[in-house]
Amino acid sequence: MPITYEMENTDNNSLAITLRPYRLSDAEDFLMYAGDERVTQFTRWNTLNSKEQALSYIKEFCIPHCYCKSICFNDRSIGFLFIKPYDEDNEKCRAEVGYVVAAEYWGRGIATRALKMAIIDVFKQFTDLVRLQAKVLIENKGSQRVLEKLGFQKEGLLRKYTIHRGTASDLFMYSLLSTDPMP
Ligand SMILES: CC(C)(COP(=O)(O)OP(=O)(O)OC[C@H]1O[C@@H](n2cnc3c(N)ncnc32)[C@H](O)[C@@H]1OP(=O)(O)O)[C@@H](O)C(=O)NCCC(=O)NCCS
Repeated sequence: MPITYEMENTDNNSLAITLRPYRLSDAEDFLMYAGDERVTQFTRWNTLNSKEQALSYIKEFCIPHCYCKSICFNDRSIGFLFIKPYDEDNEKCRAEVGYVVAAEYWGRGIATRALKMAIIDVFKQFTDLVRLQAKVLIENKGSQRVLEKLGFQKEGLLRKYTIHRGTASDLFMYSLLSTDPMP
């Protein structure tokens, strides 16, 4: 069942952002952002360069995933979001968050609104979940701002935590608890 959030653009026209499961027919739209170096530079994705690669990713990662949503404008995929609760019994209290928005839609509050919808939804759906966390490259200021706007706390710096594009890189760790106030 898709979930919808009404938002207003600067002209006060009401626009509907929807979160829904991925479909194979999203492949071309998926390639629009997963094939764009401006988007992938801060992610773990290799930049895709064909519709077939997009189709495989949707088939193998998005569709089987327990919470991977297409962020849509008028049902067209313009972004990607996942929230992955850990599987182990003693780690089910936390989940990892990730998201991207197609570059032509940046700066319109879409990631913030989509993530807010998903957060409300997952805390209802996964009853053991109390903590969401996101690890962000230190140079990724836009993503840090999205998390901060939603009330995530910056917990600290994870030094040389991941290999990003061949280089050991620092990450900031952010978290939001189910009991934290969310704007
Ligand atoms: C990060 C990303 C998802 C944000 O999407 P978005 O829809 O533009 O996000 P929003 O409009 O909701 O919020 C972005 C905020 O960051 C701010 N911002 C963007 N770039 C910035 C920068 N270089 N420095 C400081 N702030 C920046 C915007 O001004 C906005 O804040 P504001 O509302 O206070 O003005 C998008 O830029 C993206 O897909 N980036 C590449 C993939 C990525 O980094 N994913 C996250 C991996 S952790």
